[in-house]
Amino acid sequence: MVIRRIGMLTGGGDAPGLNAVIRAVVKTAIHDYGWEVIGIRNGFDGLIPPTSAEPLTLDDVRGILPRGGTILGTANRGSPLVRRVDSNGRVELVDQTPEAIATLEELGIDALIVIGGDGTLNIGHELAKKGVPVVGVPKTIDNDLPETDQTFGFDTAVLTATEAIDKLHTTAESHHRVMVLEVMGRDAGWIAIHAGIAGGADVILIPEIPFHVRKVVEKIAERDRAGRHFSIVVVAEGAKAAGSGQFYIQPKDELSLGRLGGIGEWLSDTLAMSSGHESRCTVLGHLQRGGTPTAFDRVLATRYGAAAVRSVAKGMFNHMVALKGNRICEVPLERCVGRIRTVPPDGELVQTARGLGISLGI
Ligand code: F6P
Repeated sequence: MVIRRIGMLTGGGDAPGLNAVIRAVVKTAIHDYGWEVIGIRNGFDGLIPPTSAEPLTLDDVRGILPRGGTILGTANRGSPLVRRVDSNGRVELVDQTPEAIATLEELGIDALIVIGGDGTLNIGHELAKKGVPVVGVPKTIDNDLPETDQTFGFDTAVLTATEAIDKLHTTAESHHRVMVLEVMGRDAGWIAIHAGIAGGADVILIPEIPFHVRKVVEKIAERDRAGRHFSIVVVAEGAKAAGSGQFYIQPKDELSLGRLGGIGEWLSDTLAMSSGHESRCTVLGHLQRGGTPTAFDRVLATRYGAAAVRSVAKGMFNHMVALKGNRICEVPLERCVGRIRTVPPDGELVQTARGLGISLGI
């Protein structure tokens, strides 16, 4: 198969390092292979008429390495697999992959690099099953994709959360308060447990281990007895008390996973009533997704982008580039979609946290 022109898009929530991938794809494709690169705007939306795509040159990617966000734009609602379409006043859900595939043909795109998390990679996999030559790049601050040791964006998110914990420590100590920090991660506690350990949290609550408020209160009391009249509690947005459900700001529907959030405020209020301390909640939110990527994420994103171009050159389609140990490899997309990678409740990280005296709420 002769490749002359490749397409690239970024889908789902943004993550620090997206621009580093885009830059690496453009530079490697042009320098090493002499291909043209077409940037598709706003995820798969750019493939649905009216099409939004344009060539990316070396000039277009100059200076973007340290920039957060994505110069291509992204979308994390809707997908060509199920799109809400207005037809004569009636809203219908339709499969628009035929339109997306037709656009790729019109644009003369010989292969498509999709940079995204579970949702985006799943769409890429479905397009691949219909004959589109697709290569995936694993992105998400949540670090919850299977078949790769790390997604880019995670390291930066953990640094942001760790810096927040460091700042909360000083004010918690001054005011003898309980400080609750709610971090992102959806159904995986990777950000919470990494940042919690890095920031020296006293309690870390993750979705994988349903917690008991009583155990959190006991930990705060234990610290009081030791003369430490403040506590730092890191709670993942998807964590839940034993026997209860997750907190949602916006429920799931047929087009989206819903928006998690609210556990931090609830926990802070509950702890204020039961621990004898004032308590405050900080919701770190989208600060975890913004800003300049760490050096680690820049290197990982760059390696992924360059490897994705090499995968296209080798004809290794319907695969995702992945990190195993310190090696970049390729994994079939079907093994990467439809499931997430969560923190093993009996794994080494949890054991390490326990050994440090951190409470996991059980
Ligand atoms: O998946 C990445 C992520 O940042 C999650 O951690 C979070 O729950 C979600 O996206 C937030 O998405 P939105 O951009 O819709 O607020």
